[in-house]
Amino acid sequence: MAKVLVVTSGKGGVGKTTSTAALGAALAKSGKKVVLVDFDVGLRNLDLVMGAERRVVFDLVNVIQGDAKLPQALIKDKRLDNLSLLPASQTRDKDALTSEGVAQVIKELREKFDWVVCDSPAGIERGAQLAMYHADHAVIVTNPEVSSVRDSDRIIGLLDSTTEKAKAGQKVEKHLLLTRYDPSRAARGEMMSVDDVLEILSVPLIGIVPESQEVLKASNVGAPVTIAEPESAPSRAYFDAARRLSGEKVEIAVPTEKKGFFDWLFKRGAA
Ligand SMILES: Nc1ncnc2c1ncn2[C@@H]1O[C@H](COP(=O)(O)OP(=O)(O)O)[C@@H](O)[C@H]1O
Ligand SMILES: [Mg+2]
Repeated sequence: MAKVLVVTSGKGGVGKTTSTAALGAALAKSGKKVVLVDFDVGLRNLDLVMGAERRVVFDLVNVIQGDAKLPQALIKDKRLDNLSLLPASQTRDKDALTSEGVAQVIKELREKFDWVVCDSPAGIERGAQLAMYHADHAVIVTNPEVSSVRDSDRIIGLLDSTTEKAKAGQKVEKHLLLTRYDPSRAARGEMMSVDDVLEILSVPLIGIVPESQEVLKASNVGAPVTIAEPESAPSRAYFDAARRLSGEKVEIAVPTEKKGFFDWLFKRGAA
């Protein structure tokens, strides 16, 4: 059965688009058929991170407005055969997405793919709510700092109240992904600790992605880090997170100051 996953956060700039691309590619590498859907209408970042910006002809809004059929808008990744992208439009009209249109697109995507990964826009308004509405799973991307944690808490409230699952009396399965984690700043007490974040949000942890130059380098060459630098520390965190999403029990590794070295002291149950 196909699964819909929303990558969400409330706050902007925390790593949603980066994580959508990296997790999606990791799931595809494990053999799953994956489509990444860019819900960030107006900004359109995911196609850049995927290196597909010059191949965009039709987008999500064109499909919803009936100007193109879904297969015309899907862009197949050149590196991974079972990874596709449905790009966002650059229209300024934030109301271009209708709930009926989104429902129809998600229904069609569920028939074609194993994982439908939705990259949410920032904020807690309509765009973010449309991106999460059909989700079975949510990855809540959070940085270890107060404003990000606060916004994640708001998003958790929405996931539990305004989604299709919530309306049916069920739950969206929530997973916390801590990103841009800087071990040296954490050691100096300049960032919130992992435990502090977990205590406030009380959502099972799916991974801790270190702040890393590899992520920037990958996005500069238009590739998810899990394709460009699969052996790097952030990639390992994303591959493990993808395995947890697929139901495997994998211990959470906390990045330490030594580059590329993971500390396995932190034995928390997998999400
Ligand atoms: N682990 C990381 N290490 C370093 N930079 C990162 C990391 N994750 C994301 N970034 C950078 O942070 C910026 C915002 O990331 P992005 O994924 O676009 O966030 P969002 O989609 O939440 O707005 C980008 O420049 C991205 O390259
Ligand atoms: Mg984004």
